[in-house]
Amino acid sequence: MKRIVILGSTGSIGVNALRVVDNLKNEFAPIALSCFRNAELLAQQTLTYHPQFVNMIDSEKIPLLRDKLIGTKTTILEGKEGLCRIASMEEVDLVFNSIMGSAGFPPTLAAIKKGKRIALANKETLVSYGTIIMSAAKKYKSEIIPVDSEHSAIFQCINGRKNQKIKRILLMASGGPFRNRDDILNVTIEETIRHPVWAMGKKISVDSATMMNKALEIIEAHYLFDIPPKKINVVIHPECIIHSAVEFEDNSIIAQLSTPDMTLPIQYALTYPERKQSITKNLDLTQISNLTFEPVNHLQFPAVSLAMRALEKGGTTTAVLNSSNECLVDAFLNNQIAFHTITKVITEIIDKHTAVENPSILEIQNAELWAQSEAQQYIVYAKK
Ligand SMILES: NC(=O)c1ccc[n+]([C@@H]2O[C@H](COP(=O)([O-])OP(=O)(O)OC[C@H]3O[C@@H](n4cnc5c(N)ncnc54)[C@H](OP(=O)(O)O)[C@@H]3O)[C@@H](O)[C@H]2O)c1
Repeated sequence: MKRIVILGSTGSIGVNALRVVDNLKNEFAPIALSCFRNAELLAQQTLTYHPQFVNMIDSEKIPLLRDKLIGTKTTILEGKEGLCRIASMEEVDLVFNSIMGSAGFPPTLAAIKKGKRIALANKETLVSYGTIIMSAAKKYKSEIIPVDSEHSAIFQCINGRKNQKIKRILLMASGGPFRNRDDILNVTIEETIRHPVWAMGKKISVDSATMMNKALEIIEAHYLFDIPPKKINVVIHPECIIHSAVEFEDNSIIAQLSTPDMTLPIQYALTYPERKQSITKNLDLTQISNLTFEPVNHLQFPAVSLAMRALEKGGTTTAVLNSSNECLVDAFLNNQIAFHTITKVITEIIDKHTAVENPSILEIQNAELWAQSEAQQYIVYAKK
């Protein structure tokens, strides 16, 4: 039985990871779980899976968690230190990271330094700390298996083939809830987080609507697969049946298809390189009348070209893109700013940023803080 740690077990991806664990009976033992502040759900999961450790970031909720876990053998850890501790325990075979945002970086690095295999859903970590993560993974021989459906598809299509043979990556995008809508000036939070295909956490749902999610995924693919940005093409495919594809030098395109359901890439990241019976509904191609593809409307969705600009500018710029986005999405979800300003403000912040080449962790953290304060200034101004 593989011993796993699920970071962010109370989130949309974390809960689905536990559904996969339930389905693959006796294959995985979750020995540690974590959340930010959802003490109720973390307690429920603890009573079901009996992990050795649980970790929660928000100290105010710790008494509630303690209360709910009286009489269990589970040890409660707190804060970022606890998170890094459970990510680097000797007895762990695989660390599944489904934390939201760049808060997922410290435990990812801690796991890498112990040479762990990491199933990584937490794309923001790669966007901000891509060079640090990938070079540390190489140094400590830690494998990073993507969980994002597009990157899982690309990983499966490449299947160990040499990168030089890749002509381009076709990164699929659903287009989000506003693909066919011109009046995005007054969209509500509810409309924004109602994705036409995927049920996801709030932050990634907003990212899908701005297409910033695709911007983050371009950067994620660049670091994960060591592919130059110009070889990454975004294709709108609203049916979300083809999850992504790779074109090779002989013009062959290899794609990965399935019904849109995150449990499949989650399971593949857990069982890789093996394939097992899954809870994902099988895909009946005869029942699909149409698979459609279109180019990105860059005027309506400038986020995609912004990712390319951030990569061109290099160094700390991708961290600035990610950090200002996290801040502005949070403000939008708290009703502080309008939807259409998110990408506009990030563009301004990126233009203003002086990139630091080959940055250290500290330089990236400083760039993140700078981006947050720039975004915050705009948020305060917008509230007036
Ligand atoms: N949802 C999808 O379909 C999907 C698909 C592909 C990739 N992803 C990526 O997977 C990651 C998780 O997405 P999600 O939709 O599952 O998000 P989510 O539903 O918001 O869940 C996030 C999880 O991370 C925890 N968390 C939040 N902030 C934290 C912090 N500062 N420190 C430690 N833990 C923290 C949350 O705890 P609480 O519950 O206590 O807040 C929760 O367990 C994101 O990077 C996202 O881009 C998601």
